[in-house]
Amino acid sequence: MARALYEPESGYYARPGRLVGRSGDFFTSVSVGSLFGRLLAAHLAAWRGGKSGPWRILELGAHDGSLARDVLAELASAHPAAFAEVEYAIIEPLPALAARQRETLSEFAEVVNIVNAAEDLEPRRGILIANELIDALPCRIVEATEDGWVEMGVDLGSEGNFEWKVIGDAGEIAALLPARPPGYRTEVRPDLESFLSPLADRIGQGRMLWVDYGFEADDYYADGRSEGTLQTFVKHRADNAPLDAPGSKDITAHVDFTALGAACESLGGRVVRFENQARFLTEVARPLLLSLEGRMDEEVAKVVRQFQTLTHPGQLGSRFHVMEVDFSGETT
Ligand SMILES: C[S@@+](CC[C@H](N)C(=O)[O-])C[C@H]1O[C@@H](n2cnc3c(N)ncnc32)[C@H](O)[C@@H]1O
Repeated sequence: MARALYEPESGYYARPGRLVGRSGDFFTSVSVGSLFGRLLAAHLAAWRGGKSGPWRILELGAHDGSLARDVLAELASAHPAAFAEVEYAIIEPLPALAARQRETLSEFAEVVNIVNAAEDLEPRRGILIANELIDALPCRIVEATEDGWVEMGVDLGSEGNFEWKVIGDAGEIAALLPARPPGYRTEVRPDLESFLSPLADRIGQGRMLWVDYGFEADDYYADGRSEGTLQTFVKHRADNAPLDAPGSKDITAHVDFTALGAACESLGGRVVRFENQARFLTEVARPLLLSLEGRMDEEVAKVVRQFQTLTHPGQLGSRFHVMEVDFSGETT
C-alpha cells in the first residue's frame, strides 16, 4: 500500500492530473466546494479565541492545497486578526504534491510553509487538521485462522500478477484484536503512536482535528464485517481488487477511531470531541447560516447545497466523523 500510493515517481498520489473531485476518482468534503474550509476556518478561529501572538495551522494530506486555500481565504476575510498572525504549515512528503500546493497557494505565499517532514518545523502552538489522511495511511492485513491471527503479505504469482500470501504469525498485532472465526480478515494500523508522536511535539500543547470515515473498535471488528474495509477507488467506483494495477487507483481502509483516540491519549492528548460530521458542521455553521437568513441569491443557494452534501446522512454527514484532541494538559 505504501509503495502503490506513495512511490515518488509512480505512486498513485504522485500522478499528475485530478484524483479528487468530479473528474477524478473520489469525492471528499474538500472537493464539494469551499464551504468545508470556511467552516473549519470558523472553528479554528474560535479555538484561538481572543488570544494574540503567532499561531499555526498544521495540515497533513493537503493534496492540491484546496483546503488550505479555502481556510486561509475565510480567515483573511472573516477573521483578520487571526489571519494576521497565522502560519499555515503543510507537511508534504511527495515533491509533486508540494509543487501543486505552492501553485494553489501562491496568493498566500507569505503565510504558507510547506515542509517535507514534521522535524522540519519548530514547535509552535497550533492546531493540526487532516481530512481523509488516516484512511490513506498504509495498514497491515491480518486474517484469523484456527491457530490465531496471521499477517497477509503480497507475492508475485505465476502469471506475473500479485497475490495474497500468509507471511507469518501476526505477532504483537494479535494482542490488539478480539478472537474471530477462521477466514475473518481485517486491517490494523499498529504504528499510529509513532506516526503521531512528532506531530504532537510540533503543536505546542495545541490540538488535533481528524476528519475521516471509520468506526469505533467494537463496530470495526464486529462479527459481520468479516472482509475488512480495504477498498480501492477508480472513477468513483469502488472495487475490492487492491492488488490489480498498483499505482493506478486509490487504496484506503477505514479508521479505527478507538485506536486513533488511544494513540493520541498515550501521547498526552485528551479526546474532547468525537461525533459525526453532520453534528460538528451544524454546530460550527450556525453563525454563517443565521447571517444568510432572508437572502435568496445564487451564493446562498450554493452554500445551502454544499451544506446539505456535507451533512446529509445519505451523503457525507454520518459516514464521516470528527475527532478533536486537546494537548494543553488542561482538564476542562
Ligand atoms: C484521500 S487524500 C485526501 C486529500 C485531501 N485532504 C482532501 O480531503 O481532499 C489523502 C492524502 O493524504 C496524503 N498523505 C498520506 N500519507 C501522508 C503522510 N504521511 N504525510 C502527509 N500526507 C500524507 C496523500 O498524499 C493524499 O494527498
